[in-house]
Amino acid sequence: MFENELKKEIDFLLDKATLLEVKEIENDLATVFNKVTTENEISSQIKEAVFYILSELSDNVKQHSKASKSWILYNKDKGNIIILLADNGIGIPAVFDRYFPDLDKNDLEKVREALEKGVSTKGEGRGYGLRTVRGIVEATAAEMVFISGGVGYKITKNKKDPLEIDVAGTITLIKIPVDARLDSSQFYKIIEGRNERN
Ligand SMILES: Nc1ncnc2c1ncn2[C@@H]1O[C@H](COP(=O)(O)OP(=O)(O)OP(=O)(O)O)[C@@H](O)[C@H]1O
Ligand SMILES: [Mg+2]
Repeated sequence: MFENELKKEIDFLLDKATLLEVKEIENDLATVFNKVTTENEISSQIKEAVFYILSELSDNVKQHSKASKSWILYNKDKGNIIILLADNGIGIPAVFDRYFPDLDKNDLEKVREALEKGVSTKGEGRGYGLRTVRGIVEATAAEMVFISGGVGYKITKNKKDPLEIDVAGTITLIKIPVDARLDSSQFYKIIEGRNERN
């Protein structure tokens, strides 16, 4: 079954990832950013997109997850850039239960609210991080697996499949084709959220 394969892949990548204390996350990000900067075959816009994704995801680990540990991986395999960021925190459903005790939604719906609707426990006017990461994924024909509290989605440009996988915390796994293109205006539109209104 697809989810079993995915679980194996996630375990394999987690094993290869750098394990770090959440308070050290900045140091490791810097190492990854340096590595990405020296890549010749990746366009500067895609590099920027990778920096953006990793910054947003690591901010979320620090701000929301209550995790002690985090895993980070940047790699290239079979024509794809692979980004993995994971934490051993409480996950989105538990965070939402705390902030929105009256929210009548199941765990998958809670993850969807965060991922797509821009629902934020930081209050009104926030909630750009995950939506923007998703926007980049769609614009670059990438693939994203996002799991939080054991549930989530596999997302590609035209498809979104719900997933239930027995992994703790929050995991984001993104594969971007090495030769993906993203022009600057497209990138800034996604970042500013203007693509939603056009
Ligand atoms: N790693 C995580 N662990 C637990 N909860 C998370 C995690 N990442 C995101 N969340 C939850 O999902 C919500 C949406 O995240 P998102 O990054 O889109 O917005 P934000 O962090 O609230 O605001 P912004 O990114 O605009 O500063 C967060 O408010 C938080 O409740
Ligand atoms: Mg955020």
